[in-house]
Amino acid sequence: MKILVVGKGGREHALITAMHESATGTELYCFPGSDAISELAEVVDVDGLDSLISWMKEHEIDLCVAGEESYLVKGEGLANLCEQEGIPCWGPHKQSAQLEASKEFAKDFMLRHGIPTGRAVGCADADEARVAIDGVYPTVLKFDGLAAGKGVAVCPDEVTAEEFLNEVMVERKFGKGRLLVEECLVGPEVSIFAAVVDGEYLIFTPARDYKRAYDGDEGPNTGGMGAVASRQLIDDGLLKTIEETIVQPTVKGLVDDGLPYRGFIYFGLMLTESGPKIIEYNCRFGDPECQAVMPLVGGDLARFCADGAAGILSSGRLSFSDGWSVCLVRASAGYPESSRSGDIISGIESVVDSGTEVKLYHAGTKKNAEGEWETNGGRVLAVVAGGETRSSAVESAYLALANVSFEGMQSRSDIGVFNF
Ligand code: AMP
Ligand code: GLY
Repeated sequence: MKILVVGKGGREHALITAMHESATGTELYCFPGSDAISELAEVVDVDGLDSLISWMKEHEIDLCVAGEESYLVKGEGLANLCEQEGIPCWGPHKQSAQLEASKEFAKDFMLRHGIPTGRAVGCADADEARVAIDGVYPTVLKFDGLAAGKGVAVCPDEVTAEEFLNEVMVERKFGKGRLLVEECLVGPEVSIFAAVVDGEYLIFTPARDYKRAYDGDEGPNTGGMGAVASRQLIDDGLLKTIEETIVQPTVKGLVDDGLPYRGFIYFGLMLTESGPKIIEYNCRFGDPECQAVMPLVGGDLARFCADGAAGILSSGRLSFSDGWSVCLVRASAGYPESSRSGDIISGIESVVDSGTEVKLYHAGTKKNAEGEWETNGGRVLAVVAGGETRSSAVESAYLALANVSFEGMQSRSDIGVFNF
């Protein structure tokens, strides 16, 4: 089966690895891809969405898998264009991907379908936002568009709120767009993933993302400095509540609203005292949660996604292990504000040698003219290790990374240990 995965980061490296290990024989392609991905998949050299679609048609691609979100809403939308050309696609249509691309659209959807979430007001400018905040802190401000995970600020006071309002609504750091002022929810967070095929779904292993840059969950929000995944992360009763109050009404809501959906969906949840509430939808797998979850997924992921794209939810093709999986991210100097490229990474071979249960996924790396790996982005690489217990997985992951280093390397030392 010829499969093309769209994206270039650690998540796509993990997806491609899982596809490569699937029982169904695969011929893998990736766009835009990376040097590390090119070891498993042929990187397709085209200059945008339209030429990618023509390339897929010409090369008779059997399945296009959306890893990265931006292509789902670019132009006419990846899935919409695939459909027009008869290319099966695992990833939702543009109109459905508004659940991720527009916070206001998502909030209206949740309210319309009675899905528990924080109260929120949509605002056109900074003045409207000030009125909506009404002096109540902490408050949460969300830019109403894609901002690579950086469009949300939890503001403890007026000073931080003004700073964010200025960046987003005056300086227009993320471009034009509205802003959502949202009630600040309190509780541990959990990420739930499901594969959705029209009105049906399959829930994957729950995960927890460590979003803050520093230990103890301090510092700025990042794309994710690590993740832990296990079925044991939440108990059966809570998972049932999440399924009944959040997953089922979402899937039914998509059908009722006529929003076509075949692909992964991500529910970012806050486990509040008054029950689980949704803080965001993403129309794809999480990064770095995907890296943590994939090693726990057994079976034939390639065939599962192909079936899904054809309208069949073939849950029996997958199995999920009971253990724990821990993913550690190493980020470059300056991240998350900026990122430094060109620092030589040493010790990569030591990860692979450290154990068969260990996976190394490249996020922002490239090979230089001398054939050495160097940094090429904010999040540079991720190592994932498994274990029967949380502590054994944590220990293996840290051990596997012990010899990896590069100048300015940033990391957290409490992934899988710090409890929210
Ligand atoms: P997002 O970019 O939507 O993933 O949000 C980034 C982070 O902001 C989340 O992981 C939460 O930690 C925090 N956050 C988002 N919405 C809320 C909320 N309503 N209350 C408290 N924290 C929030
Ligand atoms: N790890 C958070 C995300 O993928 O959005």
